[in-house]
Amino acid sequence: MSATLIDGKDFAATIREKVAGHVRHLHEEHGITPGLAVVLVGEDPASQVYVRNKGAQTKEVGMASFEHRLPAETSEAELLALIDRLNGAPAVHGILVQLPLPDHIDAAKVINAIDPAKDVDGFHISNVGLLATGQKAMVPCTPLGCLMMLRDRLGDLSGLDAVVVGRSNIVGKPMAHLLLGENCTVTVAHSRTRDLAQVCRRADILVAAVGRPQMIPGDWIKPGATVIDVGINRIPAPERGEGKTRLVGDVDFDSAAEVAGAITPVPGGVGPMTIACLLANTVTACCRAHG
Ligand code: GUN
Repeated sequence: MSATLIDGKDFAATIREKVAGHVRHLHEEHGITPGLAVVLVGEDPASQVYVRNKGAQTKEVGMASFEHRLPAETSEAELLALIDRLNGAPAVHGILVQLPLPDHIDAAKVINAIDPAKDVDGFHISNVGLLATGQKAMVPCTPLGCLMMLRDRLGDLSGLDAVVVGRSNIVGKPMAHLLLGENCTVTVAHSRTRDLAQVCRRADILVAAVGRPQMIPGDWIKPGATVIDVGINRIPAPERGEGKTRLVGDVDFDSAAEVAGAITPVPGGVGPMTIACLLANTVTACCRAHG
C-alpha cells in the first residue's frame, strides 16, 4: 500500500474535544447547555445502534441528550406532534429524526416540519436551498465530515476535479454543492452514468457514496488521487469463521490504496466523522439560537 491513510477516528476525536471545549464555555460563561433530541421510530437494528452511539457521544461532550423511541405503529400525526413540541422546547437546540422512517410515514413531510434552525441534519428544504445557493446553512453531517478531511489533507481545493459517485439527498447532492463552494470542478456520477470507470479516472478527489460493496477498483483511480469512501457495507467473511461478516466500503480498498495518494479506511474513515459533525452542528445551532 502506498496511499496515506486518512484517520477519521482520530480526526473525529479532535472535533469532539473542540466541541466539548465550546460546550464547557457555553455552560460556564453563559449558563447554557446545548441539547440534541434524537427521534427513532421502529426497531431497525442499524438505526438503533446509530441512535445509541449518538446519545452516548452527545453526553460525552457535555451536551443534553433527549431520546425519543417510538413504536413502529406510531402515526404520522403523532410524530408531527412530537416534532412540534421539540420545535418549541427551549432546551432542545438540535432535532434529528433517524431515517429510514416506516413506510406509512411521509419522511419529507416530517423533515420539513422541523424548525430549520434546529435541523442539525441539514435535510430541511430551506437548508438544502441555502446550501445550493451558497448561503449560510445547516450542512448535512456526512458530507461536512468528508469536506473537513479533504481540506485537512489538500488545503485549497480550488480547480481540482472532483467526482462524486452517488446522488442521494443525504450525501451525493450536498457533497457536490460543498465541493462547488470550494471551487472544484464537480461531476456527479450515478448508476446510469456511461463509462463510470473513465469518469472516475479523471478525479483528483473521488467521493464514493453508492452503497455497493467494493464497487470501485484501483484501476478506476487516478494515481495520487484523494479517495473518500462513504460506503458502509456488510459482507460475508468466511475466512473469519462460519457466518461471520465484515464491513467494507464502496471502494476496493486493497487495490485502491496501491494507486491513491490518500484514502479513508472502512471502518474508521468517514463513519466517525458523521457523529462528530452532528455534535458540531448542534453547538452551532445553540450559538445561533442565543445570538
Ligand atoms: N440514516 C442514515 N444516515 C442518517 C443521517 O445522517 N441522518 C439521519 N437522520 N438518518 C440517517
